[in-house]
Amino acid sequence: MLSLGTLTLLRHPDQAAQVRDGDPATVAPAVEELLRLLTVVHTGRRRVAREDVELAGVRIRAGEGVIHQCLGQPLARLEMRIAYPALLRRFPGLAVASPIEETAFRDERVVHGVEALPVTW
Ligand code: HEM
Repeated sequence: MLSLGTLTLLRHPDQAAQVRDGDPATVAPAVEELLRLLTVVHTGRRRVAREDVELAGVRIRAGEGVIHQCLGQPLARLEMRIAYPALLRRFPGLAVASPIEETAFRDERVVHGVEALPVTW
């Protein structure tokens, strides 16, 4: 997500400039948009209750879908909110070194991303 998000920002210099120099309050929504746009986990597992169950006062009947979330999402969001602006500030001239057509994407993996992201700075 960090490499793919960096690639996306570098392909949209106006957005990268906003993350680097703009109001820090805009970084969190930018991270949300990157998460939405890139959706790096493509294979969601459907969780279905096998029998009637009550969880935290909520009754879930057999066959109903249940809400199931990533345990690491607060950490992942925090990392991205820190890493993207820090990277762009540390390397203001950061640029992708190879054409997008030559970028190897991890299309077959459970988590989508790039195999490598050659850059110049
Ligand atoms: C951008 C980064 C991340 C994305 C997009 C992501 C996405 C997901 C998805 C889609 C699931 C499956 C939820 C389900 O079962 O329906 C999941 C589960 C999980 N993730 Fe993440 N994740 C990210 C980062 C992390 C990090 C940084 C950690 C740990 C430090 C983490 C730990 C976990 C764990 C432990 C589960 C299993 C939760 C459970 O089954 O109860 N994730 N994640």
